[in-house]
Amino acid sequence: MPKTSPHNEKIVDQHTRQASSYAQLTQSMSGQIRAPRHVAIGARPDDILLDIACGPGSLTLELAPHVARATGLDITPAMLDEARAAQARSGVQNVEWVQGDAARLPFADGSFSLVTCSAAFHHFEHPARILAEMTRVCRSGGRIVVSDVTPDADKAQAYDRMEMMRDPSHRHAHCIPELAELGYELELGEAVTQSSLAGPMAYEAVLDTSFPEQWSRADLLELMREDAVSGADRNGFKAQIADGKVLVTYPMSTIIWTRP
Ligand SMILES: C[S@@+](CC[C@H](N)C(=O)[O-])C[C@H]1O[C@@H](n2cnc3c(N)ncnc32)[C@H](O)[C@@H]1O
Repeated sequence: MPKTSPHNEKIVDQHTRQASSYAQLTQSMSGQIRAPRHVAIGARPDDILLDIACGPGSLTLELAPHVARATGLDITPAMLDEARAAQARSGVQNVEWVQGDAARLPFADGSFSLVTCSAAFHHFEHPARILAEMTRVCRSGGRIVVSDVTPDADKAQAYDRMEMMRDPSHRHAHCIPELAELGYELELGEAVTQSSLAGPMAYEAVLDTSFPEQWSRADLLELMREDAVSGADRNGFKAQIADGKVLVTYPMSTIIWTRP
């Protein structure tokens, strides 16, 4: 186990409990029609890929057949167990899995040509340090790709509050200008940004993957239902009701920098 912090202990605790249900959720979502991510990201046959905070490895395994070699890194051993099981099912060979903290990547400078991070920046205690680490291990001319939920700026506070109630390891969902600023601070230059929506999906399915500490599932469902009924989208999830079920939609963005 790498040197850790109370926040990282919370990350590992939550993601150990979430590992199996989260892996199932991401598998079921990969069956939905969506533009292939290797195209959107621009993966190339000679790329050496590092996917940090890889979780059950859905992005790593999706990109691996389109690159030369891939490495998935995560801090939670149970997530890496799910990733290894998914790799065995997929038959993909050119992947290795490493346990570690993204804030201290155990790789030499410039080891990779494509460094990705999906659906994890909102968990990070030190997002600027982690983007700096992604940059350090990416060679000149390589790409650094951050994909995450990006609420509108005027809803970010309410969004974070709802997510922390559901998952105490949530820290902060960056809006697009905040992510762009992190890259600007590292002099990464102009980024390409692609935005999309994930959903609508049943909020109950999201709650199935969640282990809140102070709030019940019924409390959270009721809060989201109230927002849906109000029609005001105060929480930034575009909550709506269909066939009596509360549906949520996540505003996602992918930011791609080329390392100078
Ligand atoms: C919501 S999951 C996302 C998994 C995957 N990237 C995906 O797109 O489905 C967040 C993952 O981030 C990992 N994580 C959080 N903080 C981390 C850190 N500091 N270093 C490495 N992994 C971390 C967690 O263990 C978890 O597997």
